[in-house]
Amino acid sequence: MADPIHSVGIRLERISATFHHRERGDIQAVRDVDLDVKPGELLTLLGPSGCGKTTMLRMIAGFQEPSAGRIFIGELDVTRVPANRRDIGFVFQSYALFPHLTVFENVAYGLRVRRWGESEIGTAVEEVLTLVGLEGFGGRLPNELSGGQQQRVALARAIVIRPRVLLCDEPLSNLDAKLRVEMRGEIQKLHQRLGITTVYVTHDQEEAMAISDRIAVIESGSIAQLGTAEDLYRRPVSAFVASFIGRANLLHGVVRGTVDGRVTLELAGQTVHLPTTVSFDDGTRVAAVVRPEAISIEAAGHGLQAKVTGRVYLGDKVEYTVQLGEETLEIVRFDPPVSENYAPGQEVTIGLPSEGVQLLIDTILHS
Ligand SMILES: Nc1ncnc2c1ncn2[C@@H]1O[C@H](COP(=O)(O)OP(=O)(O)OP(=O)(O)O)[C@@H](O)[C@H]1O
Ligand SMILES: [Mg+2]
Repeated sequence: MADPIHSVGIRLERISATFHHRERGDIQAVRDVDLDVKPGELLTLLGPSGCGKTTMLRMIAGFQEPSAGRIFIGELDVTRVPANRRDIGFVFQSYALFPHLTVFENVAYGLRVRRWGESEIGTAVEEVLTLVGLEGFGGRLPNELSGGQQQRVALARAIVIRPRVLLCDEPLSNLDAKLRVEMRGEIQKLHQRLGITTVYVTHDQEEAMAISDRIAVIESGSIAQLGTAEDLYRRPVSAFVASFIGRANLLHGVVRGTVDGRVTLELAGQTVHLPTTVSFDDGTRVAAVVRPEAISIEAAGHGLQAKVTGRVYLGDKVEYTVQLGEETLEIVRFDPPVSENYAPGQEVTIGLPSEGVQLLIDTILHS
């Protein structure tokens, strides 16, 4: 494992997957997806249950044939290449270890299939077990390991063949919260060390943000947005992305003029000015994406008049809900001064940020 793998990219060209259901009719699980995974990149497919993540991964692996489109690994069109000839390592959510084989034999399996010699197998397996922190565990059976250790074996088995591409389908979802955080750090380190082009599936946004070079947010079989964690958090293109990556308040209002990079909005019967990089026609219905931690709150002052409806003290932060006209907003105050203590029922003034507000045209929200 000493020398880094020569990394290759993955390209999906207008990939679709349709399933035929006797009762439900045709289901298009993946729709016309274009995606370029760069050589050596760790790209995450993030989205809610049923949005098509596993189906996309299975098509890249060759476990499932796309109903349309082409898949390239490096320069090679692999659309019709069988799974066992694609040079891919796959880590399943369920680990899928052979229960009757030792850790060593589970990891060695792919090398035996490839007819490696006994001594090369011994060296490669020991090396990779050390890499995933399981030195000395070779003789154990899977049921003699913890969940986290089993997942490490699954990872070792996937990378020991030195695949050009690593595919991981929710590999950490069976682990408890603390172990999940630890393992995601290890997966990221391993990825940086080996440089294997990786497509990683999760529905956990924090996990996606922590490990990915880029994230593709998937909505109903299509890519809603592709970018770094920061792109998606700061500049979500839709309400779906805004509320899937972090928490978001959507303030619905009507444009009453745009001057010098600032737009005037009528919001819950009140007027606010927000920064904008685009101009909107007067009367356009928009939604401002405002993050809970970007809103300030005061007893009285200039700003929007709102009413506190809830307060939760969480030690390092206080979470408020406030009512602004028809809308309920979430506000998070990190380490607020002791005096900043507003009770439910209290009238307050809230301040919206002077930068970093994303404005969405309201028709997009309902499409
Ligand atoms: N073999 C199949 N036959 C029929 N329908 C399928 C099959 N596999 C997936 N589907 C359907 O395709 C859609 C996408 O499924 P997929 O497993 O890709 O979702 P997912 O994003 O991985 O969800 P989860 O987070 O729950 O794992 C779903 O509506 C699912 O019911
Ligand atoms: Mg899935």
